Amino acid sequence: MTENWSPDSWRGLPIRQVPGYPDEAALARVEETLHRFPPLVFAGEARRLKERLAAVAAGKAFLLQGGDCAESFAEFHPNNIRDMFKVLLQMAVVLTFAAGCPVVKVGRIAGQFAKPRSSETETQNGQTLPSYRGDIINSLDFDAAAREPDPARMIQAYSQSAATLNLLRAFAQGGYADLHRVHTWNQDFVADSPQGERYRALADRLTETLDFMAACGLNSDTTPQIRETEFYTCHEGLFLSYEEALTRIDSTTGDWYDCSAHLVWIGDRTRQVDGAHVEFMRGIKNPIGMKCGPTLEPDDLLRLIERLNPENEPGRLTLITRMGSDKVEEKLPPLLRAIKREGCEVVWCIDPMHGNRITLGNGYNTRPFSRILDEVHAAFAIHAAEGTYAGGIHCELTGQDVTECIGGAQAISEASLAERYLTHCDPRLNASQAIELAFEIAEALKQRRQRNGANGMRRFAAVA
Ligand code: PEP
Ligand code: CO
Repeated sequence: MTENWSPDSWRGLPIRQVPGYPDEAALARVEETLHRFPPLVFAGEARRLKERLAAVAAGKAFLLQGGDCAESFAEFHPNNIRDMFKVLLQMAVVLTFAAGCPVVKVGRIAGQFAKPRSSETETQNGQTLPSYRGDIINSLDFDAAAREPDPARMIQAYSQSAATLNLLRAFAQGGYADLHRVHTWNQDFVADSPQGERYRALADRLTETLDFMAACGLNSDTTPQIRETEFYTCHEGLFLSYEEALTRIDSTTGDWYDCSAHLVWIGDRTRQVDGAHVEFMRGIKNPIGMKCGPTLEPDDLLRLIERLNPENEPGRLTLITRMGSDKVEEKLPPLLRAIKREGCEVVWCIDPMHGNRITLGNGYNTRPFSRILDEVHAAFAIHAAEGTYAGGIHCELTGQDVTECIGGAQAISEASLAERYLTHCDPRLNASQAIELAFEIAEALKQRRQRNGANGMRRFAAVA
């Protein structure tokens, strides 16, 4: 067990992004209640995800991480969960074909409720109120009572997470994700678009392959890998009161696991080496992530790794880089070199969303699809030049037909953002844009395979 650590050893350390609860005793009561609730995931599942991520670190698999920026109580609906699951399955099919290796699917879902904010307050029409911090803490409505943190929301977030996870498990294992259904994941509003057609062509090839395999005796009955899929959950481990309450000892190993999700990550605003979030994360045995933005210096990164993964365990740490398309050329290489030089085992995952947000003259926050693509392509090229393995993609998306990010083949314009701008926080890719992005990444993956030849993955294994 980690030395001098307990699930509450973060308390009393410098902490950022904490909500000010008007009634601390009420918060403590809810924490106590949650502490008695069942865990949402099992330690054994988190360990299995760590093994899968170890394969990514070794260049033998690819990570797909995606979902809402912020889940909300208002958008909680089985259709939304189903559509999110569908689009992630579609992206995974596209990526698996291109990469020729397993794709590890991890949804930003069933717990992605707490949001870090750049500003403590928000001003509208001359009125200043506390910022919205995610549905687990307060409400997006702009009035004083709604913006007050309310601990009862933690229970609602837990219940929504439990129900969401229950449905996801059913989808993943109950036949919905059977590869024979690959055509049915294409959604109506995507089907007629160029992305939909491209996807259909790929699905046709997959169906032919499945027919061939069935002729050889491999089908859904004989081969569980065709019938079901592994699907994991993740969220930012920001709200430590909640994370601590769901942190439990695993009876088989005696280790502590944060059982709110399989993977939790440290955000770009809370990665202070002596801060509360790093302290909490160092003691849980889950696979963890850490966002790496443009202000992170290589020496600081090495200090953080020393604290978060002192044993250099492969699969333990996923570094999610989010530099912005304008900074990635300058900021990414020094981090890659430092990690390679020190021989640290990490998964490198590209988040092309969080460094590419702009505010338009009409007041909308958006992300130009072109900038998202630019960061993806630049990051792949930089990894190739540095001899490191671009192991995954992390994006904010939804299965709904929203208009939040401008551009893409659909050419969503600034003026059309108002049509279906539904996010509670950052702008997300809609299903069509998400599939378009997957095809773009697929191109980069194919080129990498061609460059490295059939044994290319092994070459990465040697340097990772
Ligand atoms: C997020 O992933 O929603 C987020 C807030 O990211 P970052 O910490 O990278 O800004
Ligand atoms: Co976000």
